[in-house]
Amino acid sequence: MTQANTKLLTPSQSDLEQAADILRAGGLVAFPTETVYGLGADAGHDTAVAEIFAAKGRPAFNPLIAHLPDASMAAQIAVMTPMADRLASAFWPGALTLVLRLRDAARVSKLVTAGQDSIALRVPDHPVAQGLLQAFGGPVAAPSANPSGRISPTTAAHVLDGLGGQIAAVVDGGACGVGVESTIIDARGDAPVLLRAGGIPAEAITDCLGQPPITGTTTGAPIAPGQLSSHYAPQGRVRLNVTAPKTGEVMLGFGPIPGDLTLSASGDLMEAAANLFARLHDLDAMGATHIAVAPVPDHGLGRAINDRLRRAAVPR
Ligand code: TXA
Ligand code: MG
Repeated sequence: MTQANTKLLTPSQSDLEQAADILRAGGLVAFPTETVYGLGADAGHDTAVAEIFAAKGRPAFNPLIAHLPDASMAAQIAVMTPMADRLASAFWPGALTLVLRLRDAARVSKLVTAGQDSIALRVPDHPVAQGLLQAFGGPVAAPSANPSGRISPTTAAHVLDGLGGQIAAVVDGGACGVGVESTIIDARGDAPVLLRAGGIPAEAITDCLGQPPITGTTTGAPIAPGQLSSHYAPQGRVRLNVTAPKTGEVMLGFGPIPGDLTLSASGDLMEAAANLFARLHDLDAMGATHIAVAPVPDHGLGRAINDRLRRAAVPR
């Protein structure tokens, strides 16, 4: 396929119907969510889900998030615990993914769950994602719409850059507002387990439940892509917590520490999260071989940003 084989769709109702038809036919459609662009497939269609792994070149042991139009569909697919109900009413639709026990009768491909008896579910809060999920009427498996190991896409151009020609369509809904992936909470037990820091700060989970989430271990579970060291990496070598770059380094600034480019000149963590992947893409586009990154405060969304920056900095 050439890039031209990937259809660029608009968020119009007729284009969303077309996108839903492509999903029904087993095709892949990238679409915007409030976090990052997702690479969608019918979650009940084995070969379509397999196509996701093929298009991304993703290691097959990573389970995928199933996206739903509303919380009532979640209860049909998985067992909602009291904790899950509280989190869902507080944060859905939104940047929260819940890991729950899969119902035996659920029509979901084993490739989505990596053969486990648990499933990750999310109800996204983006009008285009909502429109597509409603037009489709079922769960859509969607990892971030980037080749495995590359930076997550926050614009349709990023998607085409990485996957153009390999997927049937991309719905262009502009830039993603949150810019980092969803927070993942395992809500199966009595205590919340944080599996991935993301768009909903851990502090907000604590406020909702009255107890802080435990940081997840991967006992018995397949490792999450977020735990693969180079998952968020640009091409260049990354050095963190730098206040003064060395000769030859391209500097990514934050707040008072200026750079060749910046996550947020005003030191706004929301803005930095929304810019993060775009700036990493920019560094790749500049051909940066050595990258220095200014310190980012480790609270609120800063935790998710630092988590991703640390992965980007792991030597490869
Ligand atoms: O914001 C997001 O979450 C984006 C947008 C597109 O919704 N999606 C996303 O998907 O980041 P992906 O596939 O890149 O990340 C899925 C994460 C992985 O860390 C995976 O291991 C975890 O969800 N996951 C999925 N199913 C799981 C399960 N049953 N148990 C534990 N972790 C699971
Ligand atoms: Mg990803």
